[in-house]
Amino acid sequence: MNVPLLAIAEGERADRDAFRRDVLAGLAGSPRAIPAKYLYDARGSALFDAICEQPEYYPTRTEAAILRRHADEIARLAGPGCALVEYGSGSSVKTRLLLGAMPDLHAYVPIDISRQHLDATARRLREDYPGLRVDPVTGDYMALDALPPTIDDARRIGFFPGSTIGNLMPEEAVLFLRRARRLLRTDGALILGVDLKKDPRRLHDAYNDRAGITAQFTLNLLRRMNRELEANFDLSAFAHDAFYNEAAGRIEIYFRSLRNQTVTVADRRFTFVEGERVHTEYSYKYDDAGIAELARKGGFSIAASWTDHARLFAVFFLR
Ligand code: AVI
Repeated sequence: MNVPLLAIAEGERADRDAFRRDVLAGLAGSPRAIPAKYLYDARGSALFDAICEQPEYYPTRTEAAILRRHADEIARLAGPGCALVEYGSGSSVKTRLLLGAMPDLHAYVPIDISRQHLDATARRLREDYPGLRVDPVTGDYMALDALPPTIDDARRIGFFPGSTIGNLMPEEAVLFLRRARRLLRTDGALILGVDLKKDPRRLHDAYNDRAGITAQFTLNLLRRMNRELEANFDLSAFAHDAFYNEAAGRIEIYFRSLRNQTVTVADRRFTFVEGERVHTEYSYKYDDAGIAELARKGGFSIAASWTDHARLFAVFFLR
């Protein structure tokens, strides 16, 4: 279906207004922080794809290997004729690892904020899996409370890979699970990918790759503010700063000012002292007990889990 150009322009304006509002509030706040979702403009999304290919960033390939190895068992637990509901589906790359093992799926329901992304992905999936019913839903999965009526009678199996749950604060993760519990209904289940706690050095390296792609990903936010909010960040005067906070069990990511400086953003001036940081991301790491606790608070329990030999990453089947 074609979306009128006017509607697209209005949507873009609303997105830009929200970006301006959130950035100005985030830079005026203490401590300074900008929501992580703004890292993912077109260039940021491409850089994130490149991060996933870096030798130090083990989560993507480790999770893919787990899904590939255990796809049959996951499909058996999901049961025949279910609807697979993916949260933040993007280009549905990992879904394909499950689809092969689920030939009798009732429907695949990808949920994503980007309508364009969804349409292109749905088209490709229908081509590659003839007979597969794809019912995309455009929206923010943190706020969604209904699914297409076409899947009404099917058992709903959620799929939330990539340890994206780690980018939520633990209390937000519980809220996400409670919502998922309602959306997927009592007989539903959730397949959840989670990055595990491990040697801090390994974690540190995953967010400080030698090729500097993660640094480019963080600093792309400054580039985006320059372009969309008429800001004048000097990209050479800020650095990517990522480390593992062991006490909190999370990677923390910031951009850090390399000198005393003043920056204009949307006609407002902000001063930065040397060493001052602006927070952009948390990436929480969990162990089995942590996930069991999240699951319990969210209304689920762990029915099964799979991990790799080095216990870097785990996939949980929550019921
Ligand atoms: C998307 N998310 C799970 C990534 C992570 O590992 O927390 C985002 C990321 N940021 C920098 N590197 C990866």
